Amino acid sequence: MIMVFSIVYLGLLFLPGFCRGQNFGYDGDQGPANWSKEYHTCIGKHQSPINIDEHNVTNVSLPPLKLIGIDNPHQSYVTNTGHTVTLKINESKAVMLSGGPLRDTYVFEQLHFHWGENDFEGSEDLINNHSFPMEMHAVFYKEDYNSFKEALNYSDGLAILACLYEVSSQPNPTYESIVKVLPEIEKKDMGKVLQEPLLLESIFVPDIAKMQDYFTYSGSLTTPPCLEVAKWIDFKDHQQLSHDQLAAFRDIRNWEGNKLTHNFRPVQPLEGREVLHNIPSSHNSNGHSGQRSVKIPILFVALGALVAIFLFNI
Ligand SMILES: *[C@@H]1O[C@H](CO)[C@@H](O)[C@H](O)[C@H]1NC(C)=O
Ligand SMILES: *[C@@H]1O[C@H](CO)[C@@H](O)[C@H](O)[C@H]1NC(C)=O
Ligand SMILES: *[C@@H]1O[C@H](CO)[C@@H](O)[C@H](O)[C@H]1NC(C)=O
Ligand SMILES: *[C@@H]1O[C@H](CO)[C@@H](O)[C@H](O)[C@H]1NC(C)=O
Ligand SMILES: *[C@@H]1O[C@H](CO)[C@@H](O)[C@H](O)[C@H]1NC(C)=O
Ligand SMILES: *[C@@H]1O[C@H](CO)[C@@H](O)[C@H](O)[C@H]1NC(C)=O
Ligand SMILES: [Zn+2]
Repeated sequence: MIMVFSIVYLGLLFLPGFCRGQNFGYDGDQGPANWSKEYHTCIGKHQSPINIDEHNVTNVSLPPLKLIGIDNPHQSYVTNTGHTVTLKINESKAVMLSGGPLRDTYVFEQLHFHWGENDFEGSEDLINNHSFPMEMHAVFYKEDYNSFKEALNYSDGLAILACLYEVSSQPNPTYESIVKVLPEIEKKDMGKVLQEPLLLESIFVPDIAKMQDYFTYSGSLTTPPCLEVAKWIDFKDHQQLSHDQLAAFRDIRNWEGNKLTHNFRPVQPLEGREVLHNIPSSHNSNGHSGQRSVKIPILFVALGALVAIFLFNI
């Protein structure tokens, strides 16, 4: 018995495809157009990224999107995976996402970046065919499934927040702590704890008033195995990074030891999928709901006082 298992196991290890598949890339042999040779799911009907045509989206008004725990500072660490730079926080279940198009609560797993060879390309999703120099993905798994790995088995397993970046003349101070350690994680599997605790709020939603303005659609992981398990939420608001901050990412090395100059997958066919655009209403644009709930009780107290003055001649 044991021998049969060992042979099957060794066979798996030495399948050339198995080894190559683990080390997908962005050019030639291992490039996105060849991913489906190893991973059949990469030619599915609900793949990401997509081009979002702003003139062909369905306007909707969804319940408020909620992010819990992003205003607490978290000790965090960055890692070079050989495909991207990921950032994780030390506490588990400290940052949660719910509401909007989601029926359940999702737990923050990691965030990572996609970029291009120059400041004119690099984002994965496009807006009206326009490419941005960088895109951030914050990956959350459904709490009921207990772990990121387990959640990958279910079509509603993941929710992913996407932020797009534009190039600016000034460096963005929020990203300095990450950019600064990139030379120290130049090689695959190198990691570094960030010196300062991080406020994820400043990365996810630097302008909280614009948080409810987003596109959302059903899609996949944008890297092999391209599983179709993600609800995408793309914020409409863009963030800024300087040319030097963007360039620092292009200097890290991939799993082969070459500079990881670009790591974005080209857009995939929409295949009739509907892209929703959530229009913020006064009910769900964050800053206002709190004020309203304070004003109403004050009104009642004032009315009560007036009635008391009439009835009791105080
Ligand atoms: C796929 O890989 C082959 C080599 O196996 C390569 O010649 C070809 O250019 C790749 N296709 C694309 C579209 O990059
Ligand atoms: C959707 O909302 C945008 C404003 O955000 C507006 O410009 C557009 O006309 C709306 N589309 C439809 C079909 O109502
Ligand atoms: C946070 O996690 C990193 C990576 O696992 C580890 O090196 C670091 O010591 C942890 N910090 C704390 C305070 O647990
Ligand atoms: C985007 O590009 C596609 C294919 O190149 C084209 O058919 C479409 O009209 C373009 N959309 C916009 C909004 O420019
Ligand atoms: C999820 O998939 C993994 C393999 O990817 C498998 O080991 C595990 O049993 C699956 N869990 C469920 C609940 O299907
Ligand atoms: C517009 O969106 C619908 C899905 O809502 C899609 O089937 C159609 O192909 C899109 N049209 C264009 C021109 O992209
Ligand atoms: Zn990604």
